[in-house]
Amino acid sequence: MRFLLILSLIITQSCTGQNLNNSSFTPGDIWKDADGNHINAHGGGFYYEDGTYFWYGEHKNQNSLAQVGVRVYSSDDLYNWKNEGVALSVSTDPNSEITTGSVIERPKVIYNKKTDKYVMWFHLELKGQGYAAARTGVAISDNPLGPFKYIKSFRPNTKIWPKNIDDSEKVYNEEDEKLEWWTPEWKESLIDGLYVRRDFEEGQMSRDMTVYVDDDGKAYHVHSSEENQTLHISLLTDDYLDFTDTYVRVQEGGQNEAPAVFKSGNTYYMITSGLTGWDPNPARSFKSKSMLGPWEKLGNPAVGEEAELTFRSQSTFVLPVAGKKDAYIYMGDRWNPKNHRDGRYIWLPISITNGKPEFKWHDEWDLSFFDTLAP
Ligand code: DGJ
Repeated sequence: MRFLLILSLIITQSCTGQNLNNSSFTPGDIWKDADGNHINAHGGGFYYEDGTYFWYGEHKNQNSLAQVGVRVYSSDDLYNWKNEGVALSVSTDPNSEITTGSVIERPKVIYNKKTDKYVMWFHLELKGQGYAAARTGVAISDNPLGPFKYIKSFRPNTKIWPKNIDDSEKVYNEEDEKLEWWTPEWKESLIDGLYVRRDFEEGQMSRDMTVYVDDDGKAYHVHSSEENQTLHISLLTDDYLDFTDTYVRVQEGGQNEAPAVFKSGNTYYMITSGLTGWDPNPARSFKSKSMLGPWEKLGNPAVGEEAELTFRSQSTFVLPVAGKKDAYIYMGDRWNPKNHRDGRYIWLPISITNGKPEFKWHDEWDLSFFDTLAP
């Protein structure tokens, strides 16, 4: 009897394509949504509301250019995900900044209590310009599932100096332009603000990014700037739709991308990667008592075999698990540049050991992992 029941379950599942029986994470495997298709939401961002998690990510085809837009999935247990369609569509208008063939990466959605709107920020590169535009884009919706309406994209912090740059560095220096990349003089000048000065009039570069909403409702945009050499953290306006004039440089010359921020107790943590394109490299981690720094370096949070490649992944988000204390999931992409839609998701449980975030490889794990963590 039991055998017949199991058989009929298997048959029903394969006929309807329904796949809602996951009860664990198997990092790096094909991860099927409820329709039986590998989840297509790369460079993901997560938002939780009233028992539902929303997963926003880049819909990828074989190459990395945006052909569809930002896809959204929903789940009530983090293991099983339903494809909810396209939250932000590319535009068929060739003159649109988000036209088909542009680059739309690392979408992150936050909710604004004051305006009752959902705000999506993402990294945007204009069609046909490779990664030269280095802009951030913003879209808005009344519903977490979208549709999100594109508002604008721009290079942030035009004609504004970071809060933590010396007055002596706020002067255009024509010697800057003569510096050859990777020389000690270039590095020194870079750390002093070479590219902040260069981009002062046109706005600062903004590539890999995340957004983080603090307990007090203030939201921050964190991005790789200055030719990916230095991170910038900027305070957003109260409606989350724009930048204020407050921003800081973080890890000057540190070459960080793929930032993911979370808070445990009164400490902010950030996980990033180095710069090797789609190839994995050792992750980094930092901590701070304030989002605006100073951020202290903590080293590679990945521990064990293949930690030097972050288990062949690159960070995209750290998700606090709802209803569990000190339960955070490292979420990374295992990119496949030969066939981007086949990119895999590496989710691993974080533990904070001696004030440092750490994650180890697990072939399979589930949320009960967090119940075993020492208080
Ligand atoms: C690394 C970034 O982290 C990705 O989001 C993407 O921009 C690739 N570089 C492009 O090479």
